[in-house]
Amino acid sequence: MELEKKNTSYQHNETAAATIAAHYDTPPLAYVRSYGCQQNVNDGEKLRGVLLDTGFGICDTPDEADLILFNTCAVREHAEQRVFGNVGALKKLKEQNPRLMIGVCGCMAQQQSVVDKLRASYPYVDLVFGVDGIDRLPAMLAERLQKGKRYLENPRQRDAVVEQVPIRRDSGFRAWLPIMYGCDNFCTYCIVPYVRGRERSRRPADVLAEFRQLVESGYKEITLLGQNVNSYGKGLTGADAGDFADLLNLLCTQPGDYQIRFMTSHPKDASHKLIDTIAAQPKLCKHIHLPVQSGSDDMLQKMNRHYNVAQYLELVEYARAKIPGVTFSSDIIVGFPGESEEDFEKTLALIKQVGYMQLFTFIYSKRGGTKAAELPDPTTHAEKAARMERLLRTQDDIAFPMIAALAGSRVRVLAEAAGRAAGTLNGRLDNNLVVEFPGEESLVGQYLEVELTGSRAALLLGRQTGE
Ligand code: 5AD
Ligand code: SF4
Repeated sequence: MELEKKNTSYQHNETAAATIAAHYDTPPLAYVRSYGCQQNVNDGEKLRGVLLDTGFGICDTPDEADLILFNTCAVREHAEQRVFGNVGALKKLKEQNPRLMIGVCGCMAQQQSVVDKLRASYPYVDLVFGVDGIDRLPAMLAERLQKGKRYLENPRQRDAVVEQVPIRRDSGFRAWLPIMYGCDNFCTYCIVPYVRGRERSRRPADVLAEFRQLVESGYKEITLLGQNVNSYGKGLTGADAGDFADLLNLLCTQPGDYQIRFMTSHPKDASHKLIDTIAAQPKLCKHIHLPVQSGSDDMLQKMNRHYNVAQYLELVEYARAKIPGVTFSSDIIVGFPGESEEDFEKTLALIKQVGYMQLFTFIYSKRGGTKAAELPDPTTHAEKAARMERLLRTQDDIAFPMIAALAGSRVRVLAEAAGRAAGTLNGRLDNNLVVEFPGEESLVGQYLEVELTGSRAALLLGRQTGE
């Protein structure tokens, strides 16, 4: 019942659109830049959709824009610094064009300290709102224009699920499809539960409706998004009840020429049922992004991850036994507070044992308000950077031979972009690796069969079969 109240639908705001239109001689243009994860990229697509619905045009560079919107990420300090730098650089543009509106939204704007800093030190920022503000953007813009005053919103609670938000997708063949929002896990290093609020799942019928629309419009690859997709369904009741594997089974049995990916799987909630589903469903990519974060039980405990290395490895072994050819990727944090040389070596041992195809590696970044921020952290940044170097070298030594060994096989790929070399295309394999092969750009967005002929570091090389 609680959920009933929190599900709402986007409503076109005609009054706001009229107010905005009255302020411009020609339709204003908006430039939206998103930082960070795919969830945020998807939010950026919705921001563009809402702006189009409100009478804005969308432009690809900030120079021609009447509204510049930074949709920000708070997960690491570096990302925040970049945003402050990029916002600072707009001061000149604003002096040249006083009509220009500048907005900062997304995860950074969910932190009071950031809002205070923007209020005090960035007077040329017109608009600040958090992750729940996408559907209210037209009203905020109208108020800003009408009152001629900055519109800065303090962080608000985020517990709604808003359906039917207009969207302008970046790609015509790959789509992001959020199935849930927020996170309840409170890994001790992570700011996401504080900025994106409590975990809530979309109803299966709403996910299905968007999914079918995507498939019917020709989308070939659909990536289901959630901070922890494996806990999908918590809080759904009655006809909506079901877990992530049930949702996958529902989606995978829809007719059409598509494949499904998903991220992110938290190991603590990855069930055998999920793995059996991946094994059974041909539309599901045989690749699991299963972030381990560390190979030390002590660190995992301090990170509040709720699994140990043995449990993680059992999961990997189960998946290997059930899903022929399955590949894994992972996230690793180097230099979590108190990580010793021995802890770090356990991470090296683990990545050797699992044999990940891809690794996303991060040096620990202290985030205010999280539990880990209070832990003593005696290791110097230089030591952490040196560990990172060793991690990357170890990973290359593991992954490059695995990738090279794929030469000789024939694979189906989705052509996704022009390659680096002229006249080539990049295609993505089921296992998320990329192959470069000669091909016409007009083939982008299609499935092709490619014979793998070799590799260069992590990049596969190949040729289309039948050529
Ligand atoms: N410092 C470094 N990396 C982090 N991540 C999340 N929070 C932090 C942090 N404070 C990493 C985790 C997560 C990925 C998306 O970002 O590895 O899985
Ligand atoms: Fe952050 Fe952990 Fe939630 Fe992922 S599962 S968003 S790492 S708190």
